[in-house]
Amino acid sequence: MKKISADDLRKMYIDFFVSKGHCQISGASLIPENDPTVLFTTAGMHPLVPYILGAEHPQGKRLTDYQKCIRTGDIDSVGDPHHLTFFEMLGNWSLGDYFKEEAIEYSYEFLTKVLEIDPEKISVTVFAGDAEVPRDEVAAKKWESLGIPKERIYYKGREDNWWGPAGETGPCGPDSEMFYDTGREKCGPDCQPGCSCGKYFEIWNDVFMGYKKESDGTYHEMERKCIDTGMGIERTVAVLNGKKSVYETEIFSGLLRGIESLCGKKYGDDEEYDKSMRIIADHTRTSVFILGDQKGIAPSNVGQGYILRRLIRRAIRHAKKLGIDKPFLSDLSKIVINQYGEAYPELKEHVEFIDKELVKEEEKFSDTLVKGEREFAKMLPNLLKGNSRVISGRLAFKLYDTYGFPIELTEELAKENGFSVDIKGFNEAFSKHQELSRAGAEQQFKGGLADHSEQTTALHTATHLLHAALRKVLGTHVGQKGSNITAERLRFDFTHPEPMTKEQIKEVEDLVNEQIKRDLKVTVETMTLEEAREAGAIAFFDSKYGEKVTVYTIGDFSKEVCGGPHVTHTGDMGHFRILKEQSSSAGVRRIKAVLEK
Ligand code: ALA
Repeated sequence: MKKISADDLRKMYIDFFVSKGHCQISGASLIPENDPTVLFTTAGMHPLVPYILGAEHPQGKRLTDYQKCIRTGDIDSVGDPHHLTFFEMLGNWSLGDYFKEEAIEYSYEFLTKVLEIDPEKISVTVFAGDAEVPRDEVAAKKWESLGIPKERIYYKGREDNWWGPAGETGPCGPDSEMFYDTGREKCGPDCQPGCSCGKYFEIWNDVFMGYKKESDGTYHEMERKCIDTGMGIERTVAVLNGKKSVYETEIFSGLLRGIESLCGKKYGDDEEYDKSMRIIADHTRTSVFILGDQKGIAPSNVGQGYILRRLIRRAIRHAKKLGIDKPFLSDLSKIVINQYGEAYPELKEHVEFIDKELVKEEEKFSDTLVKGEREFAKMLPNLLKGNSRVISGRLAFKLYDTYGFPIELTEELAKENGFSVDIKGFNEAFSKHQELSRAGAEQQFKGGLADHSEQTTALHTATHLLHAALRKVLGTHVGQKGSNITAERLRFDFTHPEPMTKEQIKEVEDLVNEQIKRDLKVTVETMTLEEAREAGAIAFFDSKYGEKVTVYTIGDFSKEVCGGPHVTHTGDMGHFRILKEQSSSAGVRRIKAVLEK
């Protein structure tokens, strides 16, 4: 087995799939394009959803890339040896080209020939079948024909071996996961791939998107079948180097050495300190990628900015635990930028922004800590008057929620003053809060990818018409800052320094409705980004490989680089009406509008 780094793995994977006729495409921003309903890009397929659903991709039917991803579902689990908030995903896609058997052949060849993993160490899982979709004998037979014996092919149900749809309806299918057996003892008789004890490492997932789930809950086989795969870089590097934890790989060595020299402690000496070091390493890496994204996000109290703030604050708190009492994030960020600057040039382009924001946030949080301590001191005389020497969970949660005051610090201060904290009560208040935000996040994920119905497609086209109309009425300083479409309405954020007048709103509405009435044809072409810009298309897209883009043209009225989907002609879209024009943030206005039938 080859001992390789993340840089090697990225290159080997892409080279392999390019040699198999795939085109390398640029990974997308961490902030989903045209889709602010999802906070972050969570998988390689995420930016490719329109193409998996049928739109033609300008680069063809075989694609490969590496994609930066963030999953924030379990920020609070980070600290153990396995969890990460940021990771890189390698992927290869077939958009109606090859299917299951070829995908499995590629996977097997890459694992055993390119990475030189001993086939004896590989186990796979396939879909066990249910009332709607048969057992995946095709995948199992293929694995067997390649040399994986029956006893290492596990059949599992939908919870384990079915991917998608991303929302209520859409493409989905059985998948087949590949696991590496570390050779450790089974944790019990039921231990098998998928068990969390650490014996089996999942490294790759091949999704066979051959089904479409309809709104009545039934599944239909799709005519045009797609392949979506995902290999986690961090896990695979850990496996290839015989490490038990991603934090023991070269991926984290630079950061951990940096943290060691800041605090004078050694990673591996003390489990509590190790945990803090892992949290600082993970959260710093993720924060640098959010700040240094193409769409550069700053800490704030909403959306991605809020996640960023939480990550930074948690890192600072753990730095204090390690005895680091001076600003450190700027130093550590340089390690990340150096390490990833080549694969992700956007980090280098944002060096100053990253540094400035980290320094600012670190100062601000120090203030929060001071304030929190003051607040605590204010409460103390009252607390001392009572008989109880326990600080209620509700109060501890208030300190956490309102002042950003971490529970560990509340506990520490309590202890110094002869109190304890009702941690159970705090946890209850905390999980209640988490459930609420998780419900919100799930809703967001659904909203983001679920719907490519007729209605949302029409609203998407209306968004292009609106964008072009705004530029005609207000001026070409108008640029898209965000777009969000539900089945009911569109929401469009754009740069403009002042509220629109009633007359301007009416003028924009009329202009859009006029184009709808003209029944303009919507055409789609592919060209290079440069050609698109020359043709006058509006484009917010970065291209690393000079790749081709899709340009949607609506008659003589609008031309934009976009992934689609769109209506084929504007005539049946309905009547466009602006419901609201309001401020979104400094220099940015927001319009909500509907199409009425
Ligand atoms: N989309 C699949 C995953 O995220 C490959 O596992």
